[in-house]
Amino acid sequence: MKHRTAVTDGRPRSPLTRRCFLTAAGGLAAATTFAPSAFAIGGNTPLKVGMMLPYSGVYAKLGGDITNGFKLRLAEEGNRLGGRPVELITVDSEAAPSKAIGNAARLVAGKGVDFIVGPVHSGVAMAMTKVMRKSPKTMMIIPNAGANALTREACAQNIFRASFSNWQAGYPMGAELVKRGHKRVVTMTWNYAAGKQIIEAFVEGYEKAGGGAPIAQILVDFPNTEFQAHLTRIAALKPDAVMVFFSGGGAVKFVKDYAGAGLKDTIPLYGAFVTEGTLEAQGTAAEGIVSTMHWADTLNTPANIAFMKAYRKVTSETATVFAMQGYDSAALIAQAMASLDGDTGDTAELTATLAGSVMNDSPRGPWRMSKNHNPIQDFYLRRVEGGKNVVIATAVKALEDPGGRCRLG
Ligand code: BEZ
Repeated sequence: MKHRTAVTDGRPRSPLTRRCFLTAAGGLAAATTFAPSAFAIGGNTPLKVGMMLPYSGVYAKLGGDITNGFKLRLAEEGNRLGGRPVELITVDSEAAPSKAIGNAARLVAGKGVDFIVGPVHSGVAMAMTKVMRKSPKTMMIIPNAGANALTREACAQNIFRASFSNWQAGYPMGAELVKRGHKRVVTMTWNYAAGKQIIEAFVEGYEKAGGGAPIAQILVDFPNTEFQAHLTRIAALKPDAVMVFFSGGGAVKFVKDYAGAGLKDTIPLYGAFVTEGTLEAQGTAAEGIVSTMHWADTLNTPANIAFMKAYRKVTSETATVFAMQGYDSAALIAQAMASLDGDTGDTAELTATLAGSVMNDSPRGPWRMSKNHNPIQDFYLRRVEGGKNVVIATAVKALEDPGGRCRLG
């Protein structure tokens, strides 16, 4: 099969200005006036991108950050992909798995989108695969949701992840806690796929490195943020360390409650996502928390410094891992579209081009698509110091999800 591998070339991009960022946002308004054709193939026909993300509820900031990052990268491309104008259509996923099939179907069948960028929530993503499997001409670019199955047993030619698998997000911290001599560990997370899989991978890494089973594993219903009774239990257990997954509004509440319960200075807290996009709201309660992640605001590379600066210029905010994942989702599409000169007509060629993606100038550092369509990427060890996730070390280089039952190609 003839296909091109999309590789970033480090070419200078057009300078980002507030005006061109806002023009990208203006594409939303245009969404209602464009008469859709089933699958546009090139020229001046707009490339239709559906953004299916949470814009309300506990993950609202995550959805907003992904959208901002995506628009930033789009603006750097002059708001054209493969020479084509871009039409963005946004849908609030509400991080609600029960609404996922209806929302995805409306974008694919109703709006005829070429790409869906979404979602944030693992359960929403799993439900969406039912629509995506029946719509092989529409590409799904996942800018966050980590459900392992998306790039294992539920993998598909048209499903690509620009973020991480939940296994990748949890595994590296296991060995780190053993290295630090923590023997009695408690885990705590929301009780749904993301939390359960991140903690499961953490325990796998911990036990593999010589640690024993956690002394307690606490599950909290999603999106419940009533943590007090669990914190009282943790205080009574007196573990050496606590490892958690919470994100967005839940992470803010958990970290403040943990400090408020007097645990911050006695039982060290480790986590995945618990200090992402939340540091300002968490304040001093977050100081000292150690996490592993495939990016950090303090990553000292030219690509990340430029990204952080551009993001601040257009949003007046500090970029987050979610913004970075939105940015890279747009970069992934931009590369493939440039490589295909904007022609999305040959689905096999489009999927093969995305599958061969090598990202050399990402803010997270270089990464590439695995054969299962999941990023192979470095994971960093970070510690909150002075309101920033300061990189202490590279925890694991080029970490690849172990895969599993997925037959592609
Ligand atoms: C997830 O549901 O996959 C997820 C949500 C927020 C942060 C990380 C993962």
